[in-house]
This record gives sequence, C-alpha cells and structure tokens, in this order.
Amino acid sequence: MSDLWSARFKKETDVLLKKFNSSIAVDGLMYCEDIEGSLAHAAMLCKKGIISAKDCAAITEGLKGILEDIKSGALEIDPEAEDIHMFVEAELTRRIGEAGKRLHTARSRNDQVATDVRLYLRKKAASASAALRNMIKALYEVALREKDTVMPGYTHLQRAQPITFGHHMLAYASMFIRDAERLKDAVKRMNLSPLGSAALAGTTYNIDRAFTANALDFDGVVANSLDGVSDRDFAAELAFCASLIMTHLSRLSEEVILWCSWEFKFIELDDSFATGSSIMPQKKNPDVAELVRGKSGRVFGDLISLLTMLKGLPLAYNKDMQEDKEAVFDALKTATDSLEIFAPMLLSMRINADNCAAAAKRGFINATDMADYLTKKGMPFRSAYKLTGELVAACQENGMTLEEIPLERLKEASELFDEDVYEALKLKTCLEKRVSEGGPSGKAVQKQLNAVKEYLDE
Ligand code: ARG
Repeated sequence: MSDLWSARFKKETDVLLKKFNSSIAVDGLMYCEDIEGSLAHAAMLCKKGIISAKDCAAITEGLKGILEDIKSGALEIDPEAEDIHMFVEAELTRRIGEAGKRLHTARSRNDQVATDVRLYLRKKAASASAALRNMIKALYEVALREKDTVMPGYTHLQRAQPITFGHHMLAYASMFIRDAERLKDAVKRMNLSPLGSAALAGTTYNIDRAFTANALDFDGVVANSLDGVSDRDFAAELAFCASLIMTHLSRLSEEVILWCSWEFKFIELDDSFATGSSIMPQKKNPDVAELVRGKSGRVFGDLISLLTMLKGLPLAYNKDMQEDKEAVFDALKTATDSLEIFAPMLLSMRINADNCAAAAKRGFINATDMADYLTKKGMPFRSAYKLTGELVAACQENGMTLEEIPLERLKEASELFDEDVYEALKLKTCLEKRVSEGGPSGKAVQKQLNAVKEYLDE
C-alpha cells in the first residue's frame, strides 16, 4: 500500500480515484509555504519537548534541503502525488528516515492546508496590492497631464455636462483606492493561524499555537479549532476583492474601447498596446481592454464557485474544500495580471484633446449652465429648466448651439438674458464654475490630485 493513509485499507486505490483525488497540480504551487509551515511546526514540537532536538535538527535540515532542491529544479514535484503535503512528507522520510515520520505529530493535513493557503494568499495579495498601487499611480499621472483637457461627461452614454479627462481618470483612482483598502482589510482578517486546530478538535499534546503563529508572521491564532480548519471566508473575500477590481477595470475597459473607436476617437492606444487584424489591414484593436472585460467573467465565476462550494458544508473539513485553491488563486492572479498590463497601457495612450473638445462643443452640455444663469438672476430653477429646454429644441431644429442664438432672440424668451450669457455658456466658464468639492473645476481637481498623491506617498 503506497498511500500514507492506507493502513486500514485492504485494496489498492483505483487509478481513477488517484487521479481524481490529486490536487498537486494546483497546491504544488504552495511548496514554499508548506515547508515554512512544517519548519515552524517542528520547531514548536521540539520546544515543547514533543520531539527530540536531534529529530528536530534532522527534520529542519531535511526540509530545507527539499526546499532548495525544488527551487533549483533538482527535485521535481511528483505530478502523481496526492497533494503537496503528502509529497513533502514522503520525500522527507525518504531522505531522513524515522525522524521524518515524527513531523506530523499533533497536526493534520486539515490545519496544514488551511495554514499553507493563508500563507500563500498573503503573498499573492501583496502582489495584487502592489499592482493596484501602480494602477492608481498611472491614473494619477494621466489625470495630472490631462487635468485641463475638456471632454463631455456622460449619463446614459448621452453627453451631459462638461468635465475634463483628468477628472474622469480621478474617478477611477478613487475606485482603485477603495479596492486597495478593501484588500488590506481582507488580508488583516485572514492573517490568523489555524495551525494547531489539527483535524478539527485540536490535540492532546501540549502544543504552543502562539509560537507557530509568531514564527509564521500571523497576527494571532484562529480562536476555534473547528473554524480553523473549515473557514474559507478569506478565500471568498479575496475573490470578491478581485471581482470588484475586475468590475472597475471592466468599466474602464469599456470606455477605452469606445474612446478608441472612430465614433469617438478620444484616445489612441500606443502601438505596443494594440493589436491588428489578420485580414483587415487598417485595423488597430484594443485587445487588452477587451480581454480584461472578458476575464472579469472568469473572476466572478471563481467567487461564485467558492460561495457555492461552501454553502452546504457541515463542519468541519470536507474534501469539497480542496476546490478552493484553483478558484481563489485564479481570481487573484487574473486581477493582478489585468492591473499590471492596464497601467502601462494607460500611461502610453495618447489623448486627442481636439476630438474631446469638439465632442464637448456639440450635445448642449452647457444647457444646465444656461438654466443656472437664469436661476441666479432670479428665475425659479424649474422655469429656467423649461425655458432652456425649449431653446435647445429650437436650436436642434435649426442646427445651432445655445451660444449661437442672437441676444434679441434670447431676450424674447426672457428679459433676464444679457450679453454676459455668452461668457456663461463658454465651456471653459462652465468648467471653472463647477467649484463644488469633487467637481471638475481646476481648483477642485487639484484638490483631488493632491489627495491621491498623498495616498500614494503614504
Ligand atoms: N489536498 C487537501 C486539500 O487541499 C488537503 C487536506 C486533505 N485533508 C483530508 N482530510 N483529506 O484540501
């Protein structure tokens, strides 16, 4: 009988089951964390007198050797092994003999895997955080460069009111800052050690959970042993963090795709971040943005997989949970990869300020400003709104803009109109007058830029 757990079995495991049961293709990625966890566990067993110093030294040396050999490629992770925990333990015993068989004292694969996953995800979350930061930095730089580039702001994808390209970018910076904070929060909740929960009910040995928690840089220990081995909230939370990152990236992707279409042409992607067509020689396609928009579906799928996998599980460990890794690893990796390619794409794209301005000139995006002009001169806003709406309709019939209406015609509509209305309708004025906090005026945008800069400098 080859399996470590096969003592009570009288028949060999069917080859189909062996294959079906194996998780090494995914959890092999956690070999570092598995060994780190075992090193801490062995040190604790020794400190508490549960194994001898001699055995501990042999285990430690053996594990370090395995780690080095996997890293250097001298030791290949056996693709037929059941999982990384079994592989490392079997290899250790092959190398150091009897002492290797003492490593699993007062431990189960259930608390071992829960520990490994948390350690592994902590690293991957750090990479995602770094990618988020870089993305926020790219948005900041584009916003700074384009803080005076006028463009139409939209609602219902209809031109609505004037904003600047920088103001638009800063909206995304706010979203990704929230994503970064959310991720930090999730990591904080995850960073507790389940080691010592053993299979589900702790152990009869006088172990020291705080010692292993400390050695592995956890902030403390999981309070309840059943929870320690069966909680995968942290995986779901991280997958949700990744999902929201993808949602934000996907919205931006949609805009990038629209903006580089001939219908908009607000931006031009750098050649190094666009692709061509195999048949249409003129094409320059925004594949990065399309892929990111598409991959968001995968990440949401990962989140739903995790929630669905967990929802019917009785306490404590169930093998269903082996499915957690593929989903959460994929979610974090996809979000990180997407962020990593998006930042340089944004930084290298060219903004076509003329086209943005031309679009801002059409579409009556200064209509609210005309209504505000009349309101400030004493007309109730609802009346001003109605009057302006009628002028817009008349302009549309004649192919004119509001600022092209002669003053005498305006005065027919209302005596409140004066020469200064033309100044009030200028896009530049409409922008600069939008001084409310968070708005697109130069001053308000500068304040937002400063806040993002401060966040990045922290
Ligand atoms: N490969 C398993 C997993 O990822 C390790 C835990 C196995 N525990 C068990 N009781 N069979 O979940």
